[in-house]
Amino acid sequence: MDRETVIVLDFGGQYNQLIARRVRECNVYCEIYSYRTSIEKIKEIHPKGIIFTGGPNSCYEADSPTYTKEIFQLGIPILGICYGSQLMMHLLGGTVETAPVREYGKIEVTVDTTSKLFQDVSEKTICWMSHNDYISKVAPGFRISAHTADCPAAAMEDTERNLYATQFHPEVLHTKEGKKMLSNFVYQVCGCSGDWKMDSFVEESIQAIRKKVGDGKVLCALSGGVDSSVAAVMLSKAVGNQLTCVFVDHGLLRKNEGDEVEAVFGPEGPYDLNFIRVNAQERFYSKLKGVEDPEKKRKIIGEEFIRVFEEEAKKIGQVDFLVQGTIYPDVVESGVGGESTVIKSHHNVGGLPDYVDFKEIIEPLRDLFKDEVRQAGLELGIPEYLVFRQPFPGPGLGIRIIGEVTAEKVQMVQDADAIWREEIAKAGWDKKVNQYFAALTNMRSVGVMGDERTYDYAIALRAVTTTDFMTAESAEIPWEIIGKVTSRIVNEVKHINRVMYDCTGKPPATIEFE
Ligand code: XMP
Repeated sequence: MDRETVIVLDFGGQYNQLIARRVRECNVYCEIYSYRTSIEKIKEIHPKGIIFTGGPNSCYEADSPTYTKEIFQLGIPILGICYGSQLMMHLLGGTVETAPVREYGKIEVTVDTTSKLFQDVSEKTICWMSHNDYISKVAPGFRISAHTADCPAAAMEDTERNLYATQFHPEVLHTKEGKKMLSNFVYQVCGCSGDWKMDSFVEESIQAIRKKVGDGKVLCALSGGVDSSVAAVMLSKAVGNQLTCVFVDHGLLRKNEGDEVEAVFGPEGPYDLNFIRVNAQERFYSKLKGVEDPEKKRKIIGEEFIRVFEEEAKKIGQVDFLVQGTIYPDVVESGVGGESTVIKSHHNVGGLPDYVDFKEIIEPLRDLFKDEVRQAGLELGIPEYLVFRQPFPGPGLGIRIIGEVTAEKVQMVQDADAIWREEIAKAGWDKKVNQYFAALTNMRSVGVMGDERTYDYAIALRAVTTTDFMTAESAEIPWEIIGKVTSRIVNEVKHINRVMYDCTGKPPATIEFE
């Protein structure tokens, strides 16, 4: 597919993915590359524009991230943001030094609205600043196009060479008109036409998959989560009957989830997926018997999952292609893309290592951010309640039960979790929090029920708000809801005599409770 592309050259900025998402929101495809990417590679990509990210360093120091000056001679428009703007000035003969006044936060910026970058932007506009260094002298050929009270060169440009730079961060939502500025950059400066649209992406992907697969056989592990569901439906539209989807019920799903997934994707549902459900509950429980360590549980569940899947694959016979639900942030975070590599130890049931006898992997969502996967899902006609599901970890309830996992404990946590989710949704809080669930603590304590002494388990309720799932706040759920859920859980769920609410954020806790 030859689509117009803008690239983000990452100098270690924390907002690299945010920049790419904002550009894509303008209907322009955008990818992130490390500043270590060679200029030959960039020429090969032939981008319509390049954006230099921010970064934590000082560009005038010897080992700070930098780039060859040749990039400014390619005739490709470039926008430098924060560190990127300083680096551009530094490389082209301007001066960058420690600022007399450090700017941090929302700052009023006065812009020259005749600049292409600031077309239709208010003359005085609030922008997000975060910098210790500043540009004391712009490079030859540049003119200043915005300033603040403390920053004489808040934006600058050389319209001859199509080079633009902003000291502030247009990608951050605190920059009120940032999206307009980025849109101006990609449309007014780079001359993009805006061909990145989900309906055409879905259609093009289907065509490309069809061509690639020919009359081969395709296998997909379906978990019922957003990514694998979207991938499976896309594959089914592309190759119909040649696709087989295997859904492993490991007995660690939420209440009724196995049946719900089967109802949508199974033979009675609207899709033609050659759906195979494997009820492997007992296998998993027996492997998990006596195991208390959370990492060990994760490993066992992951390995057993692969074993079950492999057995099913063998029954199908020769498989040519295996589908994986990899999405763009996984690609960036695995270090292939940007600079800020995040170490991930998550076991994702949707993704499997190389073990089955197959020719190739198909990753139809590899280019998409999560919200784009959801849009693609809607385009494919997948029901909204599935497309907007909250995240659920691959190892499932196995990591929401502290200590040993048993069938009895799974049922306790399933029942309590179902009550919590039902009441949260009824009260409309499902739209206000990003993830919420119940976990079973391994703590038993004395209680009294009727006239009888009990010695039972405590359930922990968790609800968090987060934008990126890297950090999170415990949500302030009204006591009224917590009270109602507490009384329902202790009354309706056997062997639970206490309910606790987890008030901890991430850090220091994690979102999951394992
Ligand atoms: P933590 O607990 O690390 O979780 O704060 C962050 C987000 O990741 C989800 N999570 C997982 N997702 N496989 C997944 O697919 C996993 O093994 C896994 N572990 C955690 C978690 O639910 C939260 O949304």
